[in-house]
Amino acid sequence: MDFKRYLITAALPYANGPVHIGHLAGCYLPADIYVRYQRARKRDVKFVCGSDEHGVPITIRAMKEGVTPQEIVDKYHALIKESFAQIGISFDIYSRTSAAIHHETSQAFFKNLYDKNLFEERTSEQYFDEEKGMFLADRYILGTCPVCGNENAYGDQCEKCGTSLSPEQLINPRSALSNAAPVKKSTKHWFFPLNEYETWLKEWIVEGKKDSWKTNVYGQCKSWLDSGLHPRAMTRDSSWGVPVPLPEAKGKVLYVWFDAPIGYISATKELTPLWSDYWQKEDTRLIHFIGKDNIVFHCIIFPAMLKAHGGFVLPDNVPANEFLNIEGEKVSTSRNWAVWVHEYLNDFPDQQDQLRYVLCANAPETKDNDFTWKDFQTRVNSELSGNFGNFVNRAFVMMHKLCGGRVPALHDQALNDTDRALISDIQWTKERVEKSIEEYKFRDALNEIMALSAKGNKYLQVNEPWNLVKSVAENPEQQQRIDNCIHLSLQLCANLAILINPFLPFTAQKMCGMMKVVERMLDWEHAGKIDLLKVNYPLREPQILFRKIEDTEVAQQVEKLHSNLKTGGMAPAAAVESPTAAKASPALPEIQYDDFAKVELRVGTITAAEKVAKADKLLKLEVDMGTEKRCIVSGIAQHFSPEDIVGTQVTVVANLAPRKMRGIESQGMILMAENKEGKLIFVAPLQHADEGSMVK
Ligand code: MF3
Ligand code: ZN
Repeated sequence: MDFKRYLITAALPYANGPVHIGHLAGCYLPADIYVRYQRARKRDVKFVCGSDEHGVPITIRAMKEGVTPQEIVDKYHALIKESFAQIGISFDIYSRTSAAIHHETSQAFFKNLYDKNLFEERTSEQYFDEEKGMFLADRYILGTCPVCGNENAYGDQCEKCGTSLSPEQLINPRSALSNAAPVKKSTKHWFFPLNEYETWLKEWIVEGKKDSWKTNVYGQCKSWLDSGLHPRAMTRDSSWGVPVPLPEAKGKVLYVWFDAPIGYISATKELTPLWSDYWQKEDTRLIHFIGKDNIVFHCIIFPAMLKAHGGFVLPDNVPANEFLNIEGEKVSTSRNWAVWVHEYLNDFPDQQDQLRYVLCANAPETKDNDFTWKDFQTRVNSELSGNFGNFVNRAFVMMHKLCGGRVPALHDQALNDTDRALISDIQWTKERVEKSIEEYKFRDALNEIMALSAKGNKYLQVNEPWNLVKSVAENPEQQQRIDNCIHLSLQLCANLAILINPFLPFTAQKMCGMMKVVERMLDWEHAGKIDLLKVNYPLREPQILFRKIEDTEVAQQVEKLHSNLKTGGMAPAAAVESPTAAKASPALPEIQYDDFAKVELRVGTITAAEKVAKADKLLKLEVDMGTEKRCIVSGIAQHFSPEDIVGTQVTVVANLAPRKMRGIESQGMILMAENKEGKLIFVAPLQHADEGSMVK
């Protein structure tokens, strides 16, 4: 397909907190790189985004802070918009879903489906908080877990024992908002028949997108489709959101995942009167950049909505990144374990490209990745400053020292193999960068550029113009070698500026300043050429492109993370616990089921226990595992006396490698929970289980 125009979207961030670097790495930075590249290729491209200002977490947050939802979204919309602008995310428009144009657009969309009789109306009983006068999403109902007795289980899951629940199963349910006992109330909602689009979606994705979509995206879609689609409610009972445009739907709003993606359309409308070209002409290439938690909404639900409406283009691609962890731990906005973009900008003024570089070089393109401040320092100091910055600086310094501050001539007759190799490296790199960007492999593209600058350094090292100059008096031809070397190094600088521009736009601008060229030189069509700087053209003094990051700065940032975590944090998002965030925030990076399945857990019964001599923490236990008895040394002596625990059932890690402790071989490990006061509790079956039973 020959596309005439590009419409690029980046997920609309929720306006209930600031953005962190995980957001940047996940979708905004890759989208921006892609867009800047397409613009440099002079393609017709629009880059749209905005704040997602609806949804339950925003209303809850407003309630807790004692302000209106509008005040919450006004505050964060402004902060987010400013952070994006400062870090150089070059949206053509950054809109918001509380805008009138969005309300109109999403209501018209709903009405279109409604008028076609597409929705299925269903009435059901839902929990209602009479004190607050609102229906409660499952997550906002608390109660006692029927499985483990945890008194603070959520209406959708018990975090203690992991059982997934429905609110009906909770014993003594109560509202998370008021603590009042919720009552059942019947309510009507409009369901979108997603199941009716299953066949079409399978054809479109499973058959059509196998080779073009990233494997993580394709895989998630396929497993969703394989497990079968069901009708989904597209309305909610709430006072905050886009009102359902039906007279009978007082107090109801559009489901946030119905209205938010339509925000892409509203934003385009706000941007240009030609919006329908971008959304309704077949030769538009629509690309959604998102994080992996948004895959089903963008690949399945929204396309089905577009299809149901008719007349809209569908996404050509949905490049989704995985998550970026921070210092080995999953980002958690509720625990304030995050690096906030506005704080980075404050602590590292004028160093936007350093962050952009590290987030792209280490982007979670195919798997979750880790951001550490130490790695940030290493990459800035040795890669950006030591390689890229160093090359540009050397080329300029030598041009001033050896060539009078002007671009020297290129002497054909004096070209040697190193010159020719450099020229072909420049051309070849341009092609590779192009190909990688088109395939959404931004890390690879950036690596190619860095490799080219490393070749520049090597080229200078091999040619040693600073040595050649010493013998120019005896050997005047040497000057031609010096000229060629500096000439090509400067042409390489110009090429590096063009290639790096989508990634590090602030740096490219600085380089243009040094070369005294206008921004038009950065047009992609100039890449690969070696006549970008005219012979005899005077250039400026070099600027230091990247300053080094000090050890103390790294230490300060790491310290800041930890101290914010302990105090509950200074960043605004941390002030209020978001239940969804808490749910998605284990302390360790995510693992796959296969990782878990490697651990063999079995039930055993303690049949004997004694203190270990000269070790006040250890007990030596004999544990009946059904088919065998095991000797296990456990660090619980300060919590239990041996006679009290004989007969107790325990959970044993049965395939742990044996380990000698105080000369005794321990053949396994016993699972214990530690409560806030440091007291240990056995993690064991609630009812008697046969010895040797597998725990899974
Ligand atoms: N606000 C959502 C999130 O942060 C993303 C919404 S994307 C849109 O996960 F398509 F719905 F706009
Ligand atoms: Zn439980």
